[in-house]
Amino acid sequence: MSSLSILCLILFFTLLPHTILSKLEPVEALLNRLDSKLSSSSVQESAAKAVLQRLLPTHVHSFDFKIVSKDVCGGQSCFLIDNNRRSIQNDPKIMYILVGLCANVSSSIISHLLHLYFRIRGTTGVEITSGLHWYIKYWCGAHVSWDKTGGIQIASVPSPGSLPLVKDKGVRIQRPVPWNYYQNVVTSSCSTLPLDSYVWWDWEKWEKEIDWMALQGINLPLAFTGQESIWQKVFMNFNISKEDLNDFFGGPAFLAWARMGNLHGWGGPLSQNWLNQQLLLQKQILSRMLELGMTPVLPSFSGNVPAALKKIFPSAKITRLGDWNTVDGNPKWCCTYLLDPTDPLFIEIGEAFIRLQVAEYGDVTDIYNCDTFNENSPPTNDPKFISSLGAAVYKAMAKGDKDAVWLMQGWLFYSDSVFWKPPQMKALLHSVPVGKMIVLDLFADVKPIWKTSSQFYGTPYVWCMLHNFGGNIEMYGILDAISSGPVDARVSENSTMVGVGMCMEGIEQNPVVYELMSEMAFRNKKVQVLEWLKTYAHRRYGKAVHQAEAAWEILYRTVYNCTDGIADHNIDFIVKFPDWNPSSGSHISKQNQMPVTLTLPGPRRYLSPKKSSQLPQAHLWYSTQEVVNALQLFIDAGNDLAGSSTYRYDLVDLTRQVLSKLANKVYSDAMVAYRKKDGKAFSLCTQKFLQLIKDTDVLLASNDNFLLGTWLESAKKLALNPSETKQYEWNARTQVTMWYDTNKTMQSQLHDYANKFWSGLLEDYYLPRAATYFGYLLKSLRDNEEFKLEEWRKEWISFSTNWQAGTNLYPVKAKGDSLAISRSLYDKYFGQYSNEP
Ligand SMILES: *[C@@H]1O[C@H](CO)[C@@H](O)[C@H](O)[C@H]1NC(C)=O
Ligand SMILES: *[C@@H]1O[C@H](CO)[C@@H](O)[C@H](O)[C@H]1NC(C)=O
Ligand SMILES: *[C@@H]1O[C@H](CO)[C@@H](O)[C@H](O)[C@H]1NC(C)=O
Ligand SMILES: *[C@@H]1O[C@H](CO)[C@@H](O)[C@H](O)[C@H]1NC(C)=O
Ligand SMILES: *[C@@H]1O[C@H](CO)[C@@H](O)[C@H](O)[C@H]1NC(C)=O
Repeated sequence: MSSLSILCLILFFTLLPHTILSKLEPVEALLNRLDSKLSSSSVQESAAKAVLQRLLPTHVHSFDFKIVSKDVCGGQSCFLIDNNRRSIQNDPKIMYILVGLCANVSSSIISHLLHLYFRIRGTTGVEITSGLHWYIKYWCGAHVSWDKTGGIQIASVPSPGSLPLVKDKGVRIQRPVPWNYYQNVVTSSCSTLPLDSYVWWDWEKWEKEIDWMALQGINLPLAFTGQESIWQKVFMNFNISKEDLNDFFGGPAFLAWARMGNLHGWGGPLSQNWLNQQLLLQKQILSRMLELGMTPVLPSFSGNVPAALKKIFPSAKITRLGDWNTVDGNPKWCCTYLLDPTDPLFIEIGEAFIRLQVAEYGDVTDIYNCDTFNENSPPTNDPKFISSLGAAVYKAMAKGDKDAVWLMQGWLFYSDSVFWKPPQMKALLHSVPVGKMIVLDLFADVKPIWKTSSQFYGTPYVWCMLHNFGGNIEMYGILDAISSGPVDARVSENSTMVGVGMCMEGIEQNPVVYELMSEMAFRNKKVQVLEWLKTYAHRRYGKAVHQAEAAWEILYRTVYNCTDGIADHNIDFIVKFPDWNPSSGSHISKQNQMPVTLTLPGPRRYLSPKKSSQLPQAHLWYSTQEVVNALQLFIDAGNDLAGSSTYRYDLVDLTRQVLSKLANKVYSDAMVAYRKKDGKAFSLCTQKFLQLIKDTDVLLASNDNFLLGTWLESAKKLALNPSETKQYEWNARTQVTMWYDTNKTMQSQLHDYANKFWSGLLEDYYLPRAATYFGYLLKSLRDNEEFKLEEWRKEWISFSTNWQAGTNLYPVKAKGDSLAISRSLYDKYFGQYSNEP
């Protein structure tokens, strides 16, 4: 190498970090400030140790954890793993264990066991747990996923004495960007569904979830639990009574939408028990996050106020929002009130809210989320005005916490791009001092905004994967976008990317997507997905089985390569029954008349036919035959993997997906037959559709992770008296079915928004619903008369209303052998293919 090129290299390495630093100086200042709020090293080390204790209790003594300063990694966050030797004399505990247990083991193993341990150093507790996770993944072939997606695979981790060494000089992994954000703002503040996943959680579940976050390296999680309790205190200080708040908050399963001002009172009122419980839970959640060195993101005031505020402050600028998806504008739930950010009262309330949080939780963060303009474009597009609105929102935060940083989701720039043109975007993004706002590029996995907005006009942003809408259960994803998107964004010219994130509306699904995305927080380079998937399959099931690898290769090209740009929201016909009239050939529900429906918060794509004469279409982005082939391989892999819970989850999920797509086809065939007035074909197809629902229910019933009973029991478990039990169960049942209000003849516009493939729901809800509908159609064919649309709807609605009020029990334990069931269903529906080459 010439001396010139060496000089260039030196210059490159000395200048590069410097330029990046200076460009994002306010971010550096923020990071330093946040670091100063972190728990002490010993607290973080113990918290990380406790994660290890819960994950791998047999290996607590194999690891030694230490917090180190960022100087170790040139000022960045990182973890380091190295082999270490410890002398026996220094550790009497280990000595004891050794003598007691290993008296009869070969001396080399003894010495290994006694002396060898791994030192994991990290700049925070989260870095340490990430290092631990990295080690057990890439040296021990282990795998960690949510309990509800099959849980962990640690059988492959060798015993303490035989853990594989890392290379002599150790392993050092640095975060390319400081933050790894988690949870959806749309979700909790606004829409849905981690809330959907989290709503009934107790501390035990939360503890597991925070462990999962820590192992995945998440250091910037939203912490939105319990905020109603804070709001109650704030509003009471503004002379609003407890009773006035009864119709302001939503019920437990609808909190998110009430927070966002979409609705009020629906599913409520919240009892004082609930408010107190949730506040307590939030305190536990925050303490644990802090112990691990995470920076929680707290909510702030977006302007959503109870109706009573108008009476108490008659001159305040309060407007009433328009209808949001009610059937007939019932003011009991419809049309909430919004306080204008330019009103001085906005700043007073906003400040009070932040101060009360600080009083309750302590000085735990500087980062606050607010999405005032999410569903609610400003009245004029004058950039000056927008800028004043933004400044007012920020002022309310900064008066409560002088170092406040506004975390805003960039969803509006996508969903309302007609309003948010460059001048309006710039006005909002630049309405606060530089570095006081961080934007989430919420949907960057599909529609990155950083590219078209010159890096958010210089505003720091987080590259987020949205991935899941509605908490629906569907195998879906774009692995290529995840493996390369964050890297492209970070190395692009003038990049202002400061983090990666996961902003899904529901968790506990598609573990492969979340594992890959989590890794991107530590990856400098693009991931070669095909190779990665091989090791993934191996780690996930604890064994290399070539059929499983081959199946994953197919899934990578098909299910996990959705490049059609459509946000996936499961509209498969079993779970989202099309409400349409095949004889008139048009969609009849209001929802489906709109080409693109605005449901939750922003336009979500419900696919509806382009022309009214077309059949309803579900989302399909791959060759179903290829995925049937993948299923066959998967079933074959069962000979080796039947004992693995991660395998069984994937098997059930894949079989479910295949049957659901088949049912879509069968449904369409039925509709074609109906239009041809071919009663016989119609009957055959509809019988097959109903049979598919029954069979899918049996399949799902064989796995603990797909049971309606679990959801309902977790809701009831939080109740402290019979009326709460009743309310919580109704909330839980309503959210996953009709969702919102109906009248006698008009079903909810949001029916099936949060649909679920759960055993119990299929057999008891989706099945009778489809059967009723087909019954009306068949009758109309037989009697040669019009399909009785209104009659069918009335029946569906009253059936649904009764079901929601029901209290019958559903199993919480699986029954049946998933592999045998899957195999027999495969033979039943696809047997003919298995004989073809
Ligand atoms: C120790 O190992 C020997 C030979 O492997 C075996 O016969 C003996 O029973 C073992 N003793 C104990 C206490 O396990
Ligand atoms: C609440 O009402 C009391 C008594 O009427 C009054 O003194 C106080 O100023 C009011 N508080 C606010 C925030 O308006
Ligand atoms: C239900 O609401 C619809 C409007 O969405 C209205 O046309 C219909 O008359 C209402 N039906 C009843 C029974 O109130
Ligand atoms: C990067 O920033 C420089 C300096 O502001 C500017 O001249 C250049 O056009 C920017 N590049 C891109 C791709 O925006
Ligand atoms: C995914 O689809 C895109 C566009 O259809 C294609 O270019 C790409 O090669 C596909 N990726 C895989 C892994 O099949």
